[in-house]
Amino acid sequence: MPHNKNRDSKNQDRNLEILKHLQKPIVMLGMMGTGKTTIGRAIAKILGLEFLDTDKKIEEKAGLTTPEIFSQFGEKKFREVEAKIITELLNQDKKRVIATGGGAVVNTESLAYIKNKTLSVWLNTDLENLYKRVSKNKNRPLLQTENPKKTLKNLMDDRKHFYEQADIHVQMKQDCIISAADHVLEHLHMYLKDKI
Ligand code: S3P
Repeated sequence: MPHNKNRDSKNQDRNLEILKHLQKPIVMLGMMGTGKTTIGRAIAKILGLEFLDTDKKIEEKAGLTTPEIFSQFGEKKFREVEAKIITELLNQDKKRVIATGGGAVVNTESLAYIKNKTLSVWLNTDLENLYKRVSKNKNRPLLQTENPKKTLKNLMDDRKHFYEQADIHVQMKQDCIISAADHVLEHLHMYLKDKI
């Protein structure tokens, strides 16, 4: 994006307003591959907030990678640890940005915490885009199936009604991280301004 002084200062004012009105942690929701971690981290940096990723926290706690946790202990155990970490982090009531794993919303308690204690942002994108992104790496144990695209579609269909409960819905089209982060910040700003 070319440098534009006027736009930069407008964005700075917008970001300051977001910070002024933000009362809760911002939580990124959405399917694997939507960019929750990358965009969440970029937003946190722009706003000067701490950034946390629940998948990373789970891996640190277990001393294992996500695929190792799934293969050694199963999805159920992963979900238990995920829910515990989400409730612990949200009970700290800190203003920061948290990226969750795509399946975090299926746990009833986690979803209730997210709805009560956060400003939740659903990053949504279409199946083709998602598939293009997730097929680049093998880190998603749930997609190690005969037909990963179909699995992805089924997961999307099953989870849509959970993601729809987020406060803010953002349709992601941008490949560039800066434009994507800016797009999400615009949505956050609009939402918070409406609440004043
Ligand atoms: C999962 C998504 C992953 C990770 C785990 C399960 C899911 O996180 O939590 O592989 O159920 O959708 P990302 O959404 O960050 O890839």
